[in-house]
Amino acid sequence: MEPNSIIIFIIVFCSIFCLSIPADFECDFKLANFWVVGQKYSCEVMNNPQISTVESALIRNIIGDHEDSKSIDDVTFFRADNKGIEYFPRGLEKFFINLQGIVIGVNKLKEIRSSDLKPFPNLTYLNLGENLIQVLEDGVFDYNPELEVLAFWGDKIIHIGEHVFSNLQKLTSLGLGNNVCIVLIAEQNTTAVQNIINKARIQCKNYVFLKLDGKIKGLESDATNINHRNVQSFKQNIYNLECEIRNSKFSFLSSFQERIQKLKAQKFETKVTAQDDKSLLNEVRTLHNELKINTFERFQKIDKDLETTRIDILKSIDLKISELEKRLLDKIEAVLVKSVARIN
Ligand SMILES: *[C@@H]1O[C@H](CO)[C@@H](O)[C@H](O)[C@H]1NC(C)=O
Ligand SMILES: *[C@@H]1O[C@H](CO)[C@@H](O)[C@H](O)[C@H]1NC(C)=O
Repeated sequence: MEPNSIIIFIIVFCSIFCLSIPADFECDFKLANFWVVGQKYSCEVMNNPQISTVESALIRNIIGDHEDSKSIDDVTFFRADNKGIEYFPRGLEKFFINLQGIVIGVNKLKEIRSSDLKPFPNLTYLNLGENLIQVLEDGVFDYNPELEVLAFWGDKIIHIGEHVFSNLQKLTSLGLGNNVCIVLIAEQNTTAVQNIINKARIQCKNYVFLKLDGKIKGLESDATNINHRNVQSFKQNIYNLECEIRNSKFSFLSSFQERIQKLKAQKFETKVTAQDDKSLLNEVRTLHNELKINTFERFQKIDKDLETTRIDILKSIDLKISELEKRLLDKIEAVLVKSVARIN
């Protein structure tokens, strides 16, 4: 081959392979059926997206073949069922500019935040059923006033904020079946939706949960249902939660230590110049400072959260125990009154 043709070959080869952006989602683009709303032109995710097991990762590329005369702008629904997804995908709105519906079912989502949903002001449909979501916090749907269909069936919901649904004037279907604090579904019936919301207000406010570093840890124990039989398992649950928190503190510390070790190793392996040495030293110093400040603030916050939860729990345990004692005393008194009556 002549030098010129080699260069052309490299350019052609590279434009096909070297520069192609890896696809995070592979879609089957087609008309598919969705609960309540029926057929929609959608992306049905086919691969197990690695990206969705990494927190905050942005989608780089989405691929797939379209039906005749359709393009990515015609896609209104996105569905990724059973794909091992741990974090809400970030950047969908860049690819699907007309997205109205999102379904991420049978996955491993632990939470849903308003920041996840902020890019979709026109979202009418959200189904996150069969995940591990425990809490729907007030404000989570603040940016999605157009929502008509919401489903969280088969999640692990223990807490629903009192005003979570307040701004959703168009909500006509609400699936909260098979959760911990609520087991109800309403389909295209605003009265039934309102009934569920009212029930959730009463039933979904007593479970214990703790926000730790913005992540929610819930206890699947209802603090109002403590009795002499389950008080032990309740205490065990609190203990487990504390262990989890301690582990999280520990892994945070070791990640910092790892970074410092790495920097030190780097210094050891390479013959560094005096300038490098100085910058390395500065880096280590900065890290140490960061560690000191961050750790202190962070741990203070964790300890405070933990203490608040602990106090709440202990209060409700005390309340329950004194209630039980009172009931016992009432019983004894009733027996005494009866005995006295009999003697008389
Ligand atoms: C939402 O819908 C309105 C009206 O149809 C449109 O003008 C706007 O661009 C949409 N916004 C997004 C983010 O899709
Ligand atoms: C809507 O729900 C209410 C309350 O559950 C029920 O009484 C009513 O029959 C439902 N309406 C329809 C049309 O199904």
